[in-house]
Amino acid sequence: MSDFNVIGKNVEKKDGIPKVTGKALFARDISFEGMLYAKILRSKVAHAILKNIDTSKAEKLPGVVCVLTSKDIPGKNRVGIIIKDEPVLVEDKIRRFGDALAVVAAETEEIAEEALDLIEVDYQELPVITTIDEALKEGSLKIHGDTNILENKSLIKGDVDEAFKKCDVIVEKTYKTNYFAHMFIEPEAGVAKYENGILTIWASTQNPHFDRGEVARMLGLSQSKVRVVQAVTGGGFGGKLDISTQCFVGLVTYHIKRPVKLVYTREESMEVSSKRHPHVMKYKTGADKNGKILAMEAEFLQDSGAYASYGPAVVTRGMVHATGPYEIPNIRIKTTMVYTNNPMAGAFRGFGVPQVSIAHEQQMDLLAEKLNMSPYDIRIKNALRVGSYTSTMQKLEGSVGIVETLEKAKEKAEEVIFNNNKDLECIKKRGVGIGCMWYGIGNTGLPNPASAFLEVHKDCSVTVLAGCADIGQGSNTVMCQIVSETLGLDYEDVNIVSADTGSTPDGGATSASRQTYISGNACKKAAEMAKETLLKIAEELLNVDKSEIILKNKKAYSNKDENNSITIQKILNNCAAKGIMVLGCGYFNPDTTSLDAETMQGIPFATYAFATHFIEVEVNTYTGEIKVLKIVAAHDVGKAINRRMVEGQIEGGCLMGMGLGILEDLKVENAKMKTLNFSNYLIYTAKDTPEIYPIIVESEEKTGPFGAKGVGEPALIPVAPAILNAVYNATGVRFTEVPLTLEKVVEKLNY
Ligand code: MOS
Repeated sequence: MSDFNVIGKNVEKKDGIPKVTGKALFARDISFEGMLYAKILRSKVAHAILKNIDTSKAEKLPGVVCVLTSKDIPGKNRVGIIIKDEPVLVEDKIRRFGDALAVVAAETEEIAEEALDLIEVDYQELPVITTIDEALKEGSLKIHGDTNILENKSLIKGDVDEAFKKCDVIVEKTYKTNYFAHMFIEPEAGVAKYENGILTIWASTQNPHFDRGEVARMLGLSQSKVRVVQAVTGGGFGGKLDISTQCFVGLVTYHIKRPVKLVYTREESMEVSSKRHPHVMKYKTGADKNGKILAMEAEFLQDSGAYASYGPAVVTRGMVHATGPYEIPNIRIKTTMVYTNNPMAGAFRGFGVPQVSIAHEQQMDLLAEKLNMSPYDIRIKNALRVGSYTSTMQKLEGSVGIVETLEKAKEKAEEVIFNNNKDLECIKKRGVGIGCMWYGIGNTGLPNPASAFLEVHKDCSVTVLAGCADIGQGSNTVMCQIVSETLGLDYEDVNIVSADTGSTPDGGATSASRQTYISGNACKKAAEMAKETLLKIAEELLNVDKSEIILKNKKAYSNKDENNSITIQKILNNCAAKGIMVLGCGYFNPDTTSLDAETMQGIPFATYAFATHFIEVEVNTYTGEIKVLKIVAAHDVGKAINRRMVEGQIEGGCLMGMGLGILEDLKVENAKMKTLNFSNYLIYTAKDTPEIYPIIVESEEKTGPFGAKGVGEPALIPVAPAILNAVYNATGVRFTEVPLTLEKVVEKLNY
């Protein structure tokens, strides 16, 4: 199995050179002759009845081509991935700061901006709901329909009440997390053009096929009349899953038939793109005297803000993962997610799992302390293994590498982390903490297929057409590696066209750490179909059964006699002579079930990734500064298709996780976001990188392409909980809220 040509190798990233040389075309770089510029008029209040919009003065401004409002939407004025509850342009009610009220298109960006000030909006303000408590209060104003409850779910496994009676130790605590922002480097941008009856939109997006459906529905067009092309995308992390510029540029071009461009400012992007859901998590966990966890109970409260976005997905994923990667026989979890007038929360790297991991990993350490066990031993004792039953009573059949990540991480930590307090100034203290995680690959208990086409050309090169959007994580490279290995052709000769609804089949969202596993499988199946065609010809030419034939190094040969071989070029020549096309198509949908409506039991994911981080921190007890010194990060990814890119994901995830744990401090006051750019919403950069030791564990997933699972979100998840446990280890003070800002740390350490 290990003699792969391309799988597991650090091949050159397909988009590497164009990006570092500045040649890659982001949406804002795309221009057409006669192109207009759009700007959006956004609400400056959080909750109001919209009575009238007067656009007449703005329309008269020279250079303004049109000012469009909800009245100009020919189809459905509602978008949303799960629940269509967000207006493209508000027609009756404003629900948050930044709600879109009108689109201006003008000859220049400056004129469009100027026109915004000439639009007169008449509205009547409503009381603003800014807390979960207010949203749930009886008789509270309703933001949508007749309840502010967006989701109310229970997960029930076993008998929790009985099990707690048998526990020797029980720990209870409430944990809180704040909003967090993705801070992708490229703000949202989109360009639309109308030609030969087809509306084409180039956009910065994680899911062009979803965008196509939303735009078509809004315009009342068939999906075949709308083409969405993913422009080179400068990061997403979940924040480019919701629709942004696509509908606005689509609407202008639909009416005016001229190309139009819309680029969000950083502040606009920050205000309207989704944020990580703030959570309140009340946990109770009990174990017997040997450290075996018998029961866990939790109650989650979550704020979705003004719209649903990915909220329901965050609810279910968070609940399923609430145990952490441990086998717990008795569980009861209740979750309530509400609408408020706060900023919209949605998808963000981990979908609720980074939040619950902050709770479950500290519960583990609390239990260990009470039992006089080490944090390591209690994790090993309870870790999921092959044959374990998860929180949803899914029996794990294979690829369960959590124990191996614990072992490997510990081994490395013992080698590189010394946790030496001796030579430190007395105000500084060092400590080490562990964070573990598990993460289901793909959507939770929902179908989420992806597909791919490919053609092997007459010269041994290949073009792959796959819907999967590469937003920088490297899926284009991974798909080409998978195809190259399957067909025995050179990686350099495999090209991919991706994420263009006009030429590629649907790949679903680049989300949920799913593309290597799901689109990877689709590409592999497409390559296997083409391989069948090659093998049939090879069978005749080599005079052996095709089951014996191996395709490698551009040759076909018998596995019994390597000298009985023929070049793939000769096979292709033979195909050409016979008029045979070497094509492939494939799709893959992970094998899951829906979850029971009452108990959430079932098979939500076909496979899970696992990870363990050991983190060393240094706490300045005087200033409150927490420095992350070293991170050992062991990840069970099934199989690393590209080792360097897996390590890159781990390193990026570590920095983002440090931000979540310590630095990123998003401020919302009376439903208005106060931190709108990099000057007051700080993130860690390359200069802040601690020593990171990525360890790749490969517990092969039999249903994955070459055994692969995923790593995108897992890389982030164990970081913050490990930091919190390390800070406790250093100071003896336990923090239950993130981020650990200087003020919070100083206050609590010196109370
Ligand atoms: Mo991610 S939150 O699956 O883009």
